[in-house]
Amino acid sequence: MTDIAVTLADKRGTLPTDDKLGFGKIFTDHMFVMDYTSDKGWYDARIIPYGDFNISPAAMVLHYGQAIFEGMKAFRTEDNRVVMYRPVDHLNRFNNSADILSIPQMNVDVVHTALKKLIDLDKHWVPKSLGTSLYIRPFVISIDPYVGVKVASQYTLFIILSPVGAYYASGFKPVKIKVEDHYVRAVKGGLGEAKTAANYAASLKAGEVAKKDGYTQVLWLDAIEQKYIEEVGTMNIFFKIDDEIITPELNGSILNGMTRRSVLAVAKDWGMKATERRISIEEVYEAHANGRLQEVFGSGTAAVISPVGELCWKGKKIIINNGEIGETSQKLFDYITSLQQGRVADKFGWVEE
Ligand code: COI
Repeated sequence: MTDIAVTLADKRGTLPTDDKLGFGKIFTDHMFVMDYTSDKGWYDARIIPYGDFNISPAAMVLHYGQAIFEGMKAFRTEDNRVVMYRPVDHLNRFNNSADILSIPQMNVDVVHTALKKLIDLDKHWVPKSLGTSLYIRPFVISIDPYVGVKVASQYTLFIILSPVGAYYASGFKPVKIKVEDHYVRAVKGGLGEAKTAANYAASLKAGEVAKKDGYTQVLWLDAIEQKYIEEVGTMNIFFKIDDEIITPELNGSILNGMTRRSVLAVAKDWGMKATERRISIEEVYEAHANGRLQEVFGSGTAAVISPVGELCWKGKKIIINNGEIGETSQKLFDYITSLQQGRVADKFGWVEE
């Protein structure tokens, strides 16, 4: 097992009160760093004080975006234990993103051990109340100082930690979503399944236009026919039609979301029909017209469940469940957040000490 050297920060910060947390703007005292060169492989695993770092202005990531990241969470339980949610599943997905971006594979055991050590060191930063957590952001960047286009031969992996509250400032309430019929996020055979900067960069313009029009985010359709539903904002999407929940099947351009997987497993465990299949925007509008569309919600690590109260496609608006939080969305949100914080028994084996 790789040794992990630790250099402690001179000063320790304090966890702000819940109302000051917001999302992703406060960072803990330490970070994990590991380097890679094609000669040495991954080496020099270390925990050091959180801080800025130097890279060359020619670093390849700044020009061609060969970079990946993960988003996962740790929680404080009522009895003051600190637990992580599906860390190994997240790190395996990290390696899948690495593969898509031609970044060398990491040893999941080493990164997992480092993560546990880092969180233990900064455990006073894990907030406690329901809905708060420690957001964990592992990422890898390519750092060769070279402005030609190639797969890099030098990388740095970082893990930084951020205590967070709700992702949306408005909290858990239904959002208005514009069905995007102009911009596209990802194509089959492209990067859509990877957690890589380019997918998020590609989503910004459409998100801005939607916000100007009074919407929180966009619903992405497939890039070829603009017919089949893919994702919502940075989340996976679910539709409850009659008593069945449906989410678009993974097709290479959709992120294999951890909360998506959790929702499917929990709903099946509750005896609900939970289906992964291609679903078109016409089908959703038709189900609404026939009174069969009960609920729409997004799922993601940051927001967990995000109910959708309104969809607008080519100027045609539909209001879902009278613009109110649906029963299934609420039940899933309550159950998954309680499970993550150790308030209900973890029958799935997803919560790790
Ligand atoms: C998630 O909630 O899973 C996300 O991807 C959002 C994150 C990029 C802030």
